[in-house]
Amino acid sequence: MKKGLDKSVERFYNDLAIDYHLVYQNWNKSIERQATIIDQLIKQHAPQKPENILDCTCGIGTQALGLSEMGYEVHGTDISSASIERAQAEAKKRALPATFQVVDVRQLMSKVSGQFDTIISFDNSLPHLKDQQDLLLAAQHIKAKLSPHGILLGSTRDYDLLLQEKPVSTKPITSINNGIKTITFQLWDWKPDKSYVVNHFTMKELNNEFETTVRKAQYTAFTRSEMSHIFA
Ligand SMILES: C[S@@+](CC[C@H](N)C(=O)[O-])C[C@H]1O[C@@H](n2cnc3c(N)ncnc32)[C@H](O)[C@@H]1O
Repeated sequence: MKKGLDKSVERFYNDLAIDYHLVYQNWNKSIERQATIIDQLIKQHAPQKPENILDCTCGIGTQALGLSEMGYEVHGTDISSASIERAQAEAKKRALPATFQVVDVRQLMSKVSGQFDTIISFDNSLPHLKDQQDLLLAAQHIKAKLSPHGILLGSTRDYDLLLQEKPVSTKPITSINNGIKTITFQLWDWKPDKSYVVNHFTMKELNNEFETTVRKAQYTAFTRSEMSHIFA
């Protein structure tokens, strides 16, 4: 078993890869919208136009595909092989040159060659790491892959707020895909140590009934100061 992170995260995303687009009301629009936002962030923060981007938790490619479409040279890595397979298929479908590879973020140094002007990790990926030590290890690998003036951009949930409120569910997201109505939402089971288990529900209306799939994964609620301290 890999240190600090058991196989449950890989299993969760391998299983979810086929349905991951359903966490968005319209995945294609989100791809476009997120690429526009990240492009603006790069222009604001990077000292010069980046030659290449590493998306170190790319999943099925929500950010990597849009940035590749914009003309950036993108390499996407992720711990989930099924997500990487889907990202590769989605890039091929769109005739995009983005490349993808199965890599645990804590093994970037040995598995990914070269350095990158921009590294990204969006949509609450790093909080899958088990504790601060594990996050520190990931940060060391990310820093080693950044070129001298490179920048890291990312996003996580606002855990400072969520730790106060300890919500037990997320709002349902409904969409219609190939004529099938789908609903996704999460139920959260908080633990005493700031971690929580997500019960991720995907419901699809088939033959007048809702078929429900529940998948489980663990997150750690890293606060802003913990993240800032570790990535300083
Ligand atoms: C919430 S998803 C976001 C994926 C993608 N950024 C997006 O927005 O579609 C979190 C991703 O982090 C990946 N992940 C979790 N732990 C990882 C690790 N140790 N190394 C690499 N990827 C990891 C998961 O496999 C999953 O694809």
